[in-house]
Amino acid sequence: MCGIVGYIGKNNAVPILLDGLRSLEYRGYDSAGVYVQGVGCIKSVGVIDNLEAKIPNEYNGVAGIGHTRWATHGEPSEHNAHPQSDESGRVFVVHNGIIENYREISQLLTEEGHTFSSETDTEVIAHLVEKFLNDGKNFKDAVVEMLKCIKGAYGIAVACKDKPDELIVARMGSPLVIGLSLDEYFIASDPSALLRHTRDIIYLNDGDIAVVGSAGHRVFTLKEENVDRKISRIDWDFETVKKDGYAHFMLKEIMEAPTVIENSMRGRLLVEQGSVKLGGIQDISEDLRSIKNVVIVGCGSAYYAGLVGRMMIEELAGIPTVVELGSEFRYKKSVIEPRTLVIAVSQSGETADTLEAVREAKRKGALTIGIVNTIGSTIARETNAGVYNHAGPEVSVASTKAFISQLVVFALLATFLGRQRDLSLMAGKQIVTEIANLPEKIMRILSSREDIKEIALRFSHYQNFFFIGRKYNYPIAMEGSLKLKEISYIHAEGCGAGELKHGSIALITPDFPTMAICLQDSVYEKMISNVQEINARKGPIVIMTSEDTDVSFLTSDVIRIPHVHEILSPILSVIPLQLFAYYCSVARGLDVDRPRNLAKSVTVE
Ligand code: AGP
Repeated sequence: MCGIVGYIGKNNAVPILLDGLRSLEYRGYDSAGVYVQGVGCIKSVGVIDNLEAKIPNEYNGVAGIGHTRWATHGEPSEHNAHPQSDESGRVFVVHNGIIENYREISQLLTEEGHTFSSETDTEVIAHLVEKFLNDGKNFKDAVVEMLKCIKGAYGIAVACKDKPDELIVARMGSPLVIGLSLDEYFIASDPSALLRHTRDIIYLNDGDIAVVGSAGHRVFTLKEENVDRKISRIDWDFETVKKDGYAHFMLKEIMEAPTVIENSMRGRLLVEQGSVKLGGIQDISEDLRSIKNVVIVGCGSAYYAGLVGRMMIEELAGIPTVVELGSEFRYKKSVIEPRTLVIAVSQSGETADTLEAVREAKRKGALTIGIVNTIGSTIARETNAGVYNHAGPEVSVASTKAFISQLVVFALLATFLGRQRDLSLMAGKQIVTEIANLPEKIMRILSSREDIKEIALRFSHYQNFFFIGRKYNYPIAMEGSLKLKEISYIHAEGCGAGELKHGSIALITPDFPTMAICLQDSVYEKMISNVQEINARKGPIVIMTSEDTDVSFLTSDVIRIPHVHEILSPILSVIPLQLFAYYCSVARGLDVDRPRNLAKSVTVE
């Protein structure tokens, strides 16, 4: 996704803007640019180094804005890069999101004599502000008038040559934060971009406008009503997100899984009561007791986590549960019965499709909770309550540790809901005890990662792959295929093992391998017969099974994981698939952490 940075204070803005943009590189981008008050605007295609190389040494100003662009309107190019400006170079703007009515606006402005130089939707913002400045309005009022004209999602930062001691930002549907320090302000679309400078952050809400500069800061609405946004203190430091000696963030984050699970369950297990304590939903616990059905919404890996969560909730709490793609839920006729709980799952807490699904659910009267990793993110703030993953910042585009923590939170939530209903003390104790033992079992899997690497090296040349599983591990087959696709670019398909014979098995050949999840669980025998169907057609097979289970009669490529309660097995079984995808990507010499075409947080539709 695009990244926004801004600075106004007493130091040279150039190094601060470049440092901030580099912190946002992981989000994915194809061009970048900066505007520095009193100096000028520089833009470049490609990486930030290209931009830095173009900035003259004498560039030295105490205010500016910067942007990394992930193209949505107009191809990656210098003229489409941000900051965008009006033709006189009086107003500069950086923007995340989509201006839905930009064509109509540019048409009107063109008729008034404006000339446009880019294919972006963003450029209309600069021209509108210039128009209102020419109408005699001051900088702030010109920006307010502009905001009344545009429709769509935006996080924007605006600078104006006439007002070098002010920057103005506005947020509607795309995250934006303000960092505060002594006599200086930092602006960013993601707190990680300003953590080297300050940990005191204001999270703007949708509809917020803020002026920052020598006169201090003010947050207000389009109606010019001041709003009081509290200053949050960020407790994690981007420095800790360094790779810690691993080759890639992705491997580092997979290896963090035991710690992540410990953090996700810290202070939440009530073993003696066979239950859990989830502070973020305590205030609505009585509402949860009367919930009659559940709708889980998410996208990508979060959606697959939801498919696991559904089975956990139905198994432990007996509440009918469905899972919807955020991008589908928000447009379909969603039937929200009374006493429905909608659970939004999102690592970033900013995924546009999931956020709009939450808003749609709230419009229909649903109680909403978020399972979110990013503290203070929009979904976390717009849902009625929620449970944070506490997985820490996830940098690699492919979600790994956050996905695992989502499954743990679902297990905790399902146990909580179950113990409000028919789940017995003994059954609750068993689940909670098993959750407590997960970190040690995951460490055993991670210690065998070299075996997984060897298998990956033998299979990384294939162009196609099936992933099959049943019941709790059907969603993991889907997630395993997504991991392989998104970082190794191998075409992979997740499939319910029982579904193969209904058509997909036609694809099986010696060139089309299958990863089969065959744990010692209630569907083990069924899985083995599915694998035999594949064997009969000479399809290469990798079997993931439980320790001390002999499958040598089917294949020599075997991954073993510790025995675990079937309900919790996805938390273990996904890890070898994450490692398998990682090693395939490395074997193919690809950019594991920043795969082509992808972004870490999809804040556009
Ligand atoms: C995960 O590997 C993918 N990069 C992607 O599917 C991601 O899970 C999806 O975009 C949802 O993101 P969120 O969890 O931040 O909402």
